[in-house]
Amino acid sequence: MIIAPSILSADYVNLQKNIETVDKAGAEYLHIDVMDGNFVPAISYGPGWLKAIRPITKMTLDVHLMVQNPERYVEQFAENGADIIGVHVEATPHIHRALQLIKNAGAKAEVVINPGTPVEAIKPVLYMVDQVLVMTVNPGFGGQKFLPKTLKKIQQLDQLKQTEGYDFDIEVDGGVKANTIKSCADAGATVAVAGSYIFDADDPAGQVATLKEATK
Ligand code: DX5
Ligand code: ZN
Repeated sequence: MIIAPSILSADYVNLQKNIETVDKAGAEYLHIDVMDGNFVPAISYGPGWLKAIRPITKMTLDVHLMVQNPERYVEQFAENGADIIGVHVEATPHIHRALQLIKNAGAKAEVVINPGTPVEAIKPVLYMVDQVLVMTVNPGFGGQKFLPKTLKKIQQLDQLKQTEGYDFDIEVDGGVKANTIKSCADAGATVAVAGSYIFDADDPAGQVATLKEATK
């Protein structure tokens, strides 16, 4: 399982140190939650943060856009160093165009679904994505409780990979801890985001190791 610490729960004053810690601990991706105060109530950070983070780490930058009409911003995030860009199907009437823009900009394209959105809503674009993010909480805040009902959608996507020959990664985001990550892996998830579980702890490196261990 690839581990993607979410900097939403990091200590922003010591961000570089936090990033180095999780990198050394073996986390492969760095998850960056962009919130616009519109698609979700909170406002977090924008493309400028990505520009600042890119030179200080070689980790894969996994950008989760919780913004309305993301197609307006994907090129800027790609230019500023995003490796993967995720767009919510609920945030635009132009999901196909948004994914195409990401690919044309040279980044990996990810489609995201909320807990209330069925897999059927993204079936027409599954052929073109590198990653699918199944939200395991409602987006907007760290520290929420994992929703087990979402596991069924992970299984469904894993099944579609086999029957249709797709090779996208399946990512989970929200409420991931040592006691929830195994069920995600068993259902077919290949990438796990974790924010509060890692950064709210005294030993973030140890938490990364525990998550890795829990899926073995
Ligand atoms: C929630 C964000 C998550 C968040 C996860 O809207 O998309 O990436 O940081 O936080 P935890 O792991 O604390 O649920
Ligand atoms: Zn996220």
